[in-house]
Amino acid sequence: MSNPIPTKQKALVIPAKHAPFVIAEVDVPKPGPGEILVREEAIGLNPADWMVHDLDPFQSNYPFIIGMETAGTVIQLGEGVTSFAVGDKVFFAGSVFNGHPSFRQYNLTAVEFCAKVPSNLTLDQAASIPIAVETAGLGLFSRPVNDADGGAGLTPPWEEGGRGKYADQPILILGGSTAIGQPAIQFSKMCGFSPIITTASLRNAELLKSSGATHVIDRNLSGADFAAAVKAITRDPIRIVYDATSNADIQLAAYDLLSSGGTADKTVTFVVGFKEQFRELGISMWKHMPAWFESGDLKPNNIEVVPGGLGGIPSGLERLKNGEVSARKLIVHPNEVA
Ligand SMILES: NC(=O)c1ccc[n+]([C@@H]2O[C@H](COP(=O)([O-])OP(=O)(O)OC[C@H]3O[C@@H](n4cnc5c(N)ncnc54)[C@H](OP(=O)(O)O)[C@@H]3O)[C@@H](O)[C@H]2O)c1
Repeated sequence: MSNPIPTKQKALVIPAKHAPFVIAEVDVPKPGPGEILVREEAIGLNPADWMVHDLDPFQSNYPFIIGMETAGTVIQLGEGVTSFAVGDKVFFAGSVFNGHPSFRQYNLTAVEFCAKVPSNLTLDQAASIPIAVETAGLGLFSRPVNDADGGAGLTPPWEEGGRGKYADQPILILGGSTAIGQPAIQFSKMCGFSPIITTASLRNAELLKSSGATHVIDRNLSGADFAAAVKAITRDPIRIVYDATSNADIQLAAYDLLSSGGTADKTVTFVVGFKEQFRELGISMWKHMPAWFESGDLKPNNIEVVPGGLGGIPSGLERLKNGEVSARKLIVHPNEVA
């Protein structure tokens, strides 16, 4: 006989604006139609978590739970769910945006934005993926819906004619060792881009070359030296720059390096999560997600497990805030400390 579904769980809560996190008991949510309830076994930490806590960009109602990445086991199916079964290992992005934050022991997701954990990945590795791959894919493949909302609009490599479509065209990925930068490099390789030029601390150069970068430029160079380094690699027009993280000097230099002309001049866009207008792209990415990792087209980020369960999260977020995390995702096991 299966275990009963718990009604209460522990969560890491922001009790009031800017107040320190506390662990509190909250209700376990019930899955609605098309949703599944998941016992979380691994949670990924993101820079946005400390930013939401410290800056309160959404002027949230408190108490408030945040957290964006989940891997765990399905324990209950909502009405109409046939694509997952109780006991499946799954991973997904849950966030303050969709009302499914991960800093707790049980979480919900809509099934179309969720996938089974690929057979060659651990749950910890799976928890390192959702936001990184969604954000890299959204930036490269969503089509701008207005001047400032949307991505580069490239043909996705999983669609007809997309694989290798951009062969021999250069691309710049700023901040290649970030969690987002690494899948951006790997997607660029699937698209055929070459050279794939990225910036990072040079200690991460070999890792990024194993991801598909052809050239790694020291992210601490001045903008002028960065531009000179890029020009020494290629004189071909650079039509795409993906900025996962950079400083202002390199960002401006990269803007200058962008080729203009064609049907439009240089366009700078910014993407945030999966809004309704990018729903189809999101669903399509989650459908293909396990196969990308099983084939090795995409690789999980390196991970480090932060001890202490939910109570270990604040110290992990502090390290992200202080720039002390390099080329790895911090992972927490929410049930480690009950
Ligand atoms: N728009 C969205 O929807 C969205 C979604 C998620 C995240 N984000 C944002 O995207 C950024 C990256 O997030 P993440 O989770 O991928 O970060 P992350 O992996 O935690 O970032 C750590 C990495 O940042 C790199 N880095 C720091 N400063 C850099 C610089 N000036 N130039 C190049 N690399 C630098 C470090 O590289 P080295 O160790 O090699 O020096 C380190 O590996 C964050 O600002 C985050 O808030 C946006």
